[in-house]
Amino acid sequence: MTSFRQAIIITGGAGFIGSHTVRLFVNKYPEIRIINLDKLTYAGNLENLRDIEGKENYLFVKGDITDEGLIFSLFEKYPVTGVIHLAAESHVDRSITNPLEFIQTNIIGTVTLMNAAREAWKEQPEGKRFYQISTDEVYGSLGAEGYFTESTPYNPQSPYSASKAGADHFVRAYGNTYGLPHVITNCSNNYGPFQFPEKLIPLTINNILHKKPIPVYGKGENIRDWLYVEDHARAIDLVFFQGRNGRTYNIGGNNEWKNIDLVKKLCDITDRLLDRPAGSSRGLITFVRDRAGHDLRYAIDSSRIRDELGWQPETSFDDGLTKTVQWYLDNTEWLEHITTGAYAKYYEQQYGTTNDE
Ligand code: NAD
Ligand code: DAU
Repeated sequence: MTSFRQAIIITGGAGFIGSHTVRLFVNKYPEIRIINLDKLTYAGNLENLRDIEGKENYLFVKGDITDEGLIFSLFEKYPVTGVIHLAAESHVDRSITNPLEFIQTNIIGTVTLMNAAREAWKEQPEGKRFYQISTDEVYGSLGAEGYFTESTPYNPQSPYSASKAGADHFVRAYGNTYGLPHVITNCSNNYGPFQFPEKLIPLTINNILHKKPIPVYGKGENIRDWLYVEDHARAIDLVFFQGRNGRTYNIGGNNEWKNIDLVKKLCDITDRLLDRPAGSSRGLITFVRDRAGHDLRYAIDSSRIRDELGWQPETSFDDGLTKTVQWYLDNTEWLEHITTGAYAKYYEQQYGTTNDE
């Protein structure tokens, strides 16, 4: 068995963005052990990583980021030089129903990880890095004008964004108080393959596929800035290795859409790909009760990461959406496993009861 001199823990690697990040790192850095630490909540699905699960530098560990014993033991067992922290409760609507779960995972979990990193790295913090993956939602909601920059004051409006903001504050506090080497990015809305169909884009595609009503909150006038998930994963790679210590970078697609226009666009793409009569799926659009405290508009100024690190999105929205719809149409089994919960059995079949070497 190969011994790896360096290990990176990616938390939440079985989720949507995490699985794209794990795939990129496992393929690009065969000399580094990539440890995917994931609790496998309803949002975690190892089927997202089938193509890389046999790679020698990939290790999956089933575990909770709030489990202090487990986290400390990982730092003792492996030469961990970095943590890329994506594990989170991520859905705003669920945070409105159950805020405590969000505090537990998003704040307590983040602090637990940092406590272990701080202890393990205290003698030699050079070359180490804790990377907090945050969201643009911590900045609050914009009116018709303006953009979030890295110096926009935090003003979270939902229990989800408050929990992410709390975690970000702890990361900066650990940097200031204990010298924990860290970096934070705040990204806009991601879309692409493997996204759980509770989020707007995959939910809409799934409902079009099954000719079910498409729920649009309020009047559909809220605006989001959409970024293809692989462009986010590339930004994560750049920031992790090249971002400046203690710095924050905003990441966005410069691609604002009103929800109603986006949903109509999805209807039209899906009709075309399914050979349905043009315009037929638009009839499924149904306006429903608005989300409580619904943020009106997010828009990101990502000039810092563009200027300092040379990052920019590579996937146009037309290409990205078409690829995404086609992926869901080609992967109806994945969708069915997600919607029936059958994907949870995959872990047992694949890994039995052992989750570590
Ligand atoms: P997701 O919900 O698809 O995945 C979250 C993953 O975290 C799942 O695999 C889940 O099993 C795991 N997890 C949850 N609680 C855990 C715990 N206590 N211990 C270990 N693992 C746990 O989320 P996503 O959409 O991929 O988002 C990933 C990260 O990126 C989150 O931190 C989110 O706040 C942030 N983010 C997301 C977006 C977006 O548009 N989706 C945009 C900006 C930032
Ligand atoms: O901005 C980044 C954030 O984007 C991430 O931090 C979150 O983890 C991620 O979930 C996402 O949050 P949103 O609330 O913007 O995403 P969601 O897909 O839930 O909703 C997008 C928009 O669509 C929002 O205005 C609410 C609306 N919506 C959503 C759903 C699920 C609907 O109109 N109907 C729906 O059924």
